[in-house]
Amino acid sequence: MFKIAVLPGDGIGVEIVPQALKALKAIGEKYGHSFEFTEALVGGAAYDAKGHPLPEETLELCEQSDAVLLGAIGGPKWDNLPVELRPEAGALLPLRRELALYANLRPCVVFPSLIHASTLKEEVLQGVDILIVRELTGGIYFGEKSRELAADGQKATDVLSYSTYEIKRIAKIAFEAARQRKKKLCSVDKANVLESSRLWRETVTDMAREYPDVELTHMYVDNCAMQLIRNPRQFDVIVTENMFGDILTDEASMLTGSLGMLASASIGGEVGLYEPAHGSAPDIAGQNKANPLATILSAALLLRYSLKLEKEAQAIEEAVRKVIDAGYRTPDLAEPGKTILGTSEMGDLVAQTILEG
Ligand code: IPM
Ligand code: MG
Repeated sequence: MFKIAVLPGDGIGVEIVPQALKALKAIGEKYGHSFEFTEALVGGAAYDAKGHPLPEETLELCEQSDAVLLGAIGGPKWDNLPVELRPEAGALLPLRRELALYANLRPCVVFPSLIHASTLKEEVLQGVDILIVRELTGGIYFGEKSRELAADGQKATDVLSYSTYEIKRIAKIAFEAARQRKKKLCSVDKANVLESSRLWRETVTDMAREYPDVELTHMYVDNCAMQLIRNPRQFDVIVTENMFGDILTDEASMLTGSLGMLASASIGGEVGLYEPAHGSAPDIAGQNKANPLATILSAALLLRYSLKLEKEAQAIEEAVRKVIDAGYRTPDLAEPGKTILGTSEMGDLVAQTILEG
């Protein structure tokens, strides 16, 4: 029996998470696993019901589970709360920190039949398969923050720091991942300007001696942003710090056609957390329009990394590919001649495809 904490969150989170549960239930049925799903509140929904975006009982449930499946959090309703009560700073970042999820893996794979959904040219996208490894519990998102009075107003400060320990542990995940793939690792930093990046580069370079089979390169983040669009096929695994990874993964998602396709796994601690890379999309919430595939693909990562069920993970990925190949799309991927499905219908179809697969 696998215990899964289910945190739908806000906005489209409550629509997409049930679709991933349908996929997991189909996997359970087909491969004889039993899952115990326990729901809890997080984000704005938790603030409204309990007065805090990350209630104690939600954190406890996560800590006692084998893995956590999260939808998305936040929305305009909670944007003006004090920072510690906002869904992002008050729930998502503390959840990542409390569960020690220092490694965020965001696979960016182009499904051939979605190539036309991207704004980029087909010949640029063919064969793109990148794994971005983003450091998730350090850097400027977690550094000290302050405000003080200054001559003509205020001064605001966010501290960016990294220790050798933090860099080594994320680099290790990236080197190991590269070893399982095409054995190419690109470490992205801003070592021409930032001291934390110089330590990052030195540390990653030192570690490369333990991985003689992996080809290590370094790239400045501004150049990487450009290279991702110019020639994304040059990348296999990218490792980078928290903020650079946040930005580069949104950019890289467009290689796949839609931000709605990008799954993510946050690992490193005892309990992994799986969530789509996109947000709560308040503009389309409640309309059965959201693309559930990033969340369904995140459930595949949950099977792979937390439950070590590789065959089952592939069965979900395969079902998603089949559904897309058969011409089914959510509105974000709309193209002439394709069949548009709602969020829930897409979830049903993927689950059914898993059962038939
Ligand atoms: C992400 C999101 C979050 C992040 C936000 C919501 C705090 O953009 O998971 O990429 O920056 O990590
Ligand atoms: Mg982001």
